[in-house]
Amino acid sequence: MTERNNKPNVLVIDDAFCVRQSLHFILKDTFNVLMAPGALEGNFFLSTHNIDIVLLDIRLRGTDGLKLLADIKHKYPYIEIIMITAYASIDTTRQAIRYGAYDYLIKPFDKDELMSVVLKAMTRRQSRLSIKNELDMLNESTLYLEHLIRSAQETVMNSSESHMTAMLLNIDSRDGYTWSHVKRVTKLSLMIAEKMGLTDEQRQWLKCSASLHDIGKLNIDKDILTKESRLTKYEYEIMKKHPVEGEKIIQRIPFLGKAVPAIRHHHERYDGEGYPSGLQGREIPFKARILAVADAVDSMMNSPVRQSHCPVEKVNRELRSNSGSQFDPEIVDVVLRERLLSLV
Ligand SMILES: [Fe+2]
Ligand SMILES: [Fe+2]
Repeated sequence: MTERNNKPNVLVIDDAFCVRQSLHFILKDTFNVLMAPGALEGNFFLSTHNIDIVLLDIRLRGTDGLKLLADIKHKYPYIEIIMITAYASIDTTRQAIRYGAYDYLIKPFDKDELMSVVLKAMTRRQSRLSIKNELDMLNESTLYLEHLIRSAQETVMNSSESHMTAMLLNIDSRDGYTWSHVKRVTKLSLMIAEKMGLTDEQRQWLKCSASLHDIGKLNIDKDILTKESRLTKYEYEIMKKHPVEGEKIIQRIPFLGKAVPAIRHHHERYDGEGYPSGLQGREIPFKARILAVADAVDSMMNSPVRQSHCPVEKVNRELRSNSGSQFDPEIVDVVLRERLLSLV
């Protein structure tokens, strides 16, 4: 804010030599006074010095003083600008104030009035700067708090992972499949998410949803869960309840709330023929659309119920032929284009 002598810096931009001299004479004991005969020199001082106050001629030769005022305020919002005018036109003055000028002075100057206006402008600059500093500190604190909350959430999620693992192993002990299934679905979902540019936070929630997407099978009868032959219509209707059962289980854990939509909707179809809600297209949460693809791929490649596991080429063909009906075509495009199935 100040030069080596600790005085605030006042920049006078006026094309009249005698005006610059008289302002210098009045202000020099209290301020460092820099003097510019035009906009070019004024802008040079503004870019090279830490200017506190600008005294600006409203009728600068070859320059629109009001435009220069607006430019300075735009670039240096915390500099206070006092307009100098030879006449008190209400319109011009009003415009100057509207463009951000602090005050105006009419030539010839009254020494005391001049000093009083410049000192008041200085006080205003200091108080605005101190408010700005407080706001900056507040923003920094907010960012730090947000960081702390994110870390706390991560800690809670990590510590709950062992609990989730126990639940999944419980299902696995009944069907011998779910544990490895969710691992593979999670891996492919995250590969898709990376190729689609999801943020770290979105990927974290996708990972959580993928790990828990079949948690609702805890509430499905073991005989239905492990049946090797085709399910009857009745049994299939029971099996179809697992996304909603999963939603009920996870809803009881408040900090996992963001994982719920993908868990509930991972069996929706893009054409609206899926379950439990029959959502269509982009009504289906994005993470649920990713899960639907990864889940179906794993079912084709690794389901214990199928007699023979599909080779990658056949699964790719299935994805292509069901793109836009069962699956989100954008996600299928990514899987095929990036040859993701050869990497799982
Ligand atoms: Fe499922
Ligand atoms: Fe699944």
